[in-house]
Amino acid sequence: MDSSLTSVVVNLDHARYEIIIGDEELNRIESHLQGALSNRHLIVISDSNVAPIYLEPVQARLNQVASNVDTLVIPAGEASKSVEEANRLWQALVELSADRSSVIVALGGGVVGDLAGFLAATYMRGIDFIQIPTSLLAQVDSSVGGKTGINLPHGKNLVGSFLQPKLVVVSTSTLATLDQANFRAGMAEVIKYGSIMDADFFQWLEDNVTSINNRDSVTLAEMIATCCRCKAQVVEQDEKETSGRRAILNYGHTFGHAIESVFGYGSYLHGEAIAIGMTCAAKMGLQLGMVDEAFVKRQTQLLKAFDLPTDCPTEKHNELLASMKKDKKSSAGKVKLILPNRIGHVELVPWPGDDAVLAALV
Ligand code: GLY
Repeated sequence: MDSSLTSVVVNLDHARYEIIIGDEELNRIESHLQGALSNRHLIVISDSNVAPIYLEPVQARLNQVASNVDTLVIPAGEASKSVEEANRLWQALVELSADRSSVIVALGGGVVGDLAGFLAATYMRGIDFIQIPTSLLAQVDSSVGGKTGINLPHGKNLVGSFLQPKLVVVSTSTLATLDQANFRAGMAEVIKYGSIMDADFFQWLEDNVTSINNRDSVTLAEMIATCCRCKAQVVEQDEKETSGRRAILNYGHTFGHAIESVFGYGSYLHGEAIAIGMTCAAKMGLQLGMVDEAFVKRQTQLLKAFDLPTDCPTEKHNELLASMKKDKKSSAGKVKLILPNRIGHVELVPWPGDDAVLAALV
């Protein structure tokens, strides 16, 4: 393998796949589709933001190793993770004569990956799929681990399935065209790995703020590889989120999802809401004596170093509380919070009471 490439392997009982991380992988994407993934009918799914930049060159390169390559483009944005869009694409797959040997290729951010993965999981009872994530959030989180799904009017990701991709290819070159707000939002999920499971990585992020903000490709590749290693480790231990281990990836998400849902999905990007949610979780940990002031300050400073918000909105706290209690991560009516007890370690804690949660929002 080329020395500028990093490979992280996800090893499950029933599946094993590589996450390949390099700087210019879109310019050699065909070289990664070898063996069982070559000479297949590929259907590349992308969105209206990513397609104009990358779809044509990627299709041309994939044509060199595929039997044929079709493309489908969805409107950019969370609204595409809908039953209606899934239905449109199921029918499009039939019209393209996709069969059980066809392969869906997700070229885009989290919305494309979740929807394309869901189509792959459901079309003809499941076909192969490949992730080519182009946003930072998708590269460090959603493209790895096999969670696929769509939203219902009642909430996000309420319908879906676990389907592990056959391959994930990350090209850090795509981050050069990623807008600042989405780059920043991806950094919230990056910092999350440091807070929940890797104190050395947290320190590394503190030491590399400038080169990350300058989007230095070597630094970004190292950062993404560390995140993918963390994610692979968690997914290997608890693929379907049954033991509680995978739930740690939802650090800050109970607070964050409430912020997204109460203030509207357009008001905060997911990562921005998670940055605020991680700060609320840290404050909650402080109240419960699990962490000290220094922890809250250190995590807040790192989030702010990437220009992420950390202050909870000052209004609608009762709505936030109600929304948190409805959060889908509640089981048997009991919401558990993922709270820190030191840098690099979190615990699942029973609901500490409405007043304590309200106090963490301030
Ligand atoms: N993004 C959280 C998970 O994959 O479990």
